[in-house]
Amino acid sequence: MEVMLIGFFVVWMQFMILGKAVHPGCECLVYSTTHGKEMGTFTSPDFPKQYAQNIDCVLYTFIGRPNEIIQIVFLDFDIPKRSNDCIRGDYLKLFLHLNGGEVNEYTPWETVLCGSLVDIPTILYSSGPGLVLEFHSGNERSNSTGFSGTFRFMDRRLFKTGGQKVSGTTCDYQFSSTDSSSSSYGNFYSPKYPSSYPKNIKCSYLFRARNRERIQLVFEEISLQKGDISCLNRADIIRIYDGISPGDAAIKFLCNEGAEVEIFSTGSNLFVEFVANSDWPGHGFKARYQFLPIEDNFIDLDRFDHARPKLGPSVSETRSSCDLSFTSDLTKNGTISSPHYPDSYPPRTTCRYEFEGRGKERIRIQFIDFQLYSPQSYVGENCNNQDSVFAFVHVEGRTDKIDGFCGNFFPKPIMSNGPRLLLELQSVFGGQNTRGFKAIYTFTENYGITHGSQIPDYPCAFVYTCNESKSGYFHSPNYPGLYPRDTECHYFFYGNENELVQLKFDYFDVEGVQPCNSSSASDYIEFSNYMRIDSKYKRRCGQQSPFLINSERKFFRVTFRSNDRLDGHGFNASYVFLDKSEVNTIIVPNHTSSAEIKHVYYISNIILIIFFCKFK
Ligand SMILES: *[C@@H]1O[C@H](CO)[C@@H](O)[C@H](O)[C@H]1NC(C)=O
Ligand SMILES: *[C@@H]1O[C@H](CO)[C@@H](O)[C@H](O)[C@H]1NC(C)=O
Ligand SMILES: *[C@@H]1O[C@H](CO)[C@@H](O)[C@H](O)[C@H]1NC(C)=O
Ligand SMILES: *[C@@H]1O[C@H](CO)[C@@H](O)[C@H](O)[C@H]1NC(C)=O
Ligand SMILES: *[C@@H]1O[C@H](CO)[C@@H](O)[C@H](O)[C@H]1NC(C)=O
Repeated sequence: MEVMLIGFFVVWMQFMILGKAVHPGCECLVYSTTHGKEMGTFTSPDFPKQYAQNIDCVLYTFIGRPNEIIQIVFLDFDIPKRSNDCIRGDYLKLFLHLNGGEVNEYTPWETVLCGSLVDIPTILYSSGPGLVLEFHSGNERSNSTGFSGTFRFMDRRLFKTGGQKVSGTTCDYQFSSTDSSSSSYGNFYSPKYPSSYPKNIKCSYLFRARNRERIQLVFEEISLQKGDISCLNRADIIRIYDGISPGDAAIKFLCNEGAEVEIFSTGSNLFVEFVANSDWPGHGFKARYQFLPIEDNFIDLDRFDHARPKLGPSVSETRSSCDLSFTSDLTKNGTISSPHYPDSYPPRTTCRYEFEGRGKERIRIQFIDFQLYSPQSYVGENCNNQDSVFAFVHVEGRTDKIDGFCGNFFPKPIMSNGPRLLLELQSVFGGQNTRGFKAIYTFTENYGITHGSQIPDYPCAFVYTCNESKSGYFHSPNYPGLYPRDTECHYFFYGNENELVQLKFDYFDVEGVQPCNSSSASDYIEFSNYMRIDSKYKRRCGQQSPFLINSERKFFRVTFRSNDRLDGHGFNASYVFLDKSEVNTIIVPNHTSSAEIKHVYYISNIILIIFFCKFK
């Protein structure tokens, strides 16, 4: 600590000498080299002791070479928050998009920081060779210690978007597999990445593969806005379409934060759109692309005798003989089973069934027979060290086990969160007079939701109109199985003039606890009379006994959103469109309190509705 303090005073003296500031009245510290070390450090005056009051301004100026950008990382941060926008009292102002190291009172700044380390983005980048921090303290006393951090200079060419920039546009790019100047793989980034992207921009990235090729994208980092608000209500969003424009089917929308999201095109085109209209731009995104040949003889089903794994004469732990791969290019559905099904499967064997879909396809496994051997003594729950079937998916760069089954417990359907799923049969004991399993696999685009009309404008959205059906059912993706992770589905209800919709949730199990937001890492259901967020309705999560929800308008929206961990079985609900006037004229006899009337009406209207609809 002692050494650090002395070190600081040396620099402090240095800035006194450099004190002829670009900004009159400011004291300046200039950092243009890390002195051969990987990174340098900077601190607030007197750190780690409390800083003085009434510091008009201290400018920390970082200047790199023309093709360099600057990364700063805050290690400590303690500046009292006196207002929400931080601009009153003490603050640290950031200038990230500078050409040189000069600022004056007219230079636009990007953001102002105050609070503690958890309130601020701890890693920040400039978009050019200059970055300036302006520190100011007011006249209120505080015990705050200020900040400390590290800085380093990086080559900005590390973050160059491949492809061809479309001339006359600010940030539209084309990537063509036939174009000899583009390679078959590369990277693309949000504008100014890794610095924050500018406000009010719209960029597009169009990928064009050759015939019999497709495009694979991996969004390695998505860092737009913090929180878990639905992508429907986010001003900063990445939309991916299975073709050449937003007129094509939506594969996936990305908002908030995430990592390692993999996308395959169905055909030879893919369109990515990035829109940013928020007031507080985030860090952006980083993605890689690759043009891949479509292999048409990936698996010869006949050879595999309807996809039953063949085992060589000497079955051993080497599992290669019973591993199978399925892509949706060949067939959209089929069956899989354990080796020798319906006879006993061998002991000490692992069979892997790998699935790879494309576009918005998810993989769904529905078992039709399931009987694995388990010793009578087995009472555990997680099926470890048992003959079992496990399902795995990729989530944010991890491989997560999403479900596991053993014994006679009949499995519910399984659904992937993206284009890949791995099913693994792990046999320890061997069949011993059990049949093993048989299941249907499907590459599905409808998320296992068969009621309502799916619309292509969103990755997962279903429409229910009163003209089509006055009443019916709707449920969560993959119901009654566990819903998939990182999935957002919308249910839009359209009634006629003077109608409203009533929903009755019969089953509700959405993993989370109050307040059902990212603070409690919850999945949730949101209700609204509009496309936008409607503060009239609270988010719901957890396990709930049956409940009713009414709309107040002819339009109603239900949005389901799951995060990247822990799942539930979702919900099963019914809907019914009611005529407002008819609802209001219901005569409930012998009840005087309005609360009671409401209660009776709620219980009885499911029956009443059917009556109303008949008369329409
Ligand atoms: C500063 O710290 C002292 C001693 O811990 C405390 O008495 C005082 O209230 C603090 N002042 C402020 C403004 O937080
Ligand atoms: C696969 O899909 C076809 C066409 O939709 C259907 O006729 C067939 O029954 C399905 N097979 C299985 C095993 O589900
Ligand atoms: C239902 O049909 C009527 C008559 O065709 C039409 O005017 C109305 O807009 C439709 N309602 C909805 C919600 O689509
Ligand atoms: C979650 O909700 C609580 C209560 O409404 C709120 O205080 C908190 O800030 C919310 N967290 C996030 C991350 O939105
Ligand atoms: C949802 O609940 C209804 C009524 O209990 C039932 O008829 C329907 O089959 C359920 N849906 C599913 C997918 O289980």
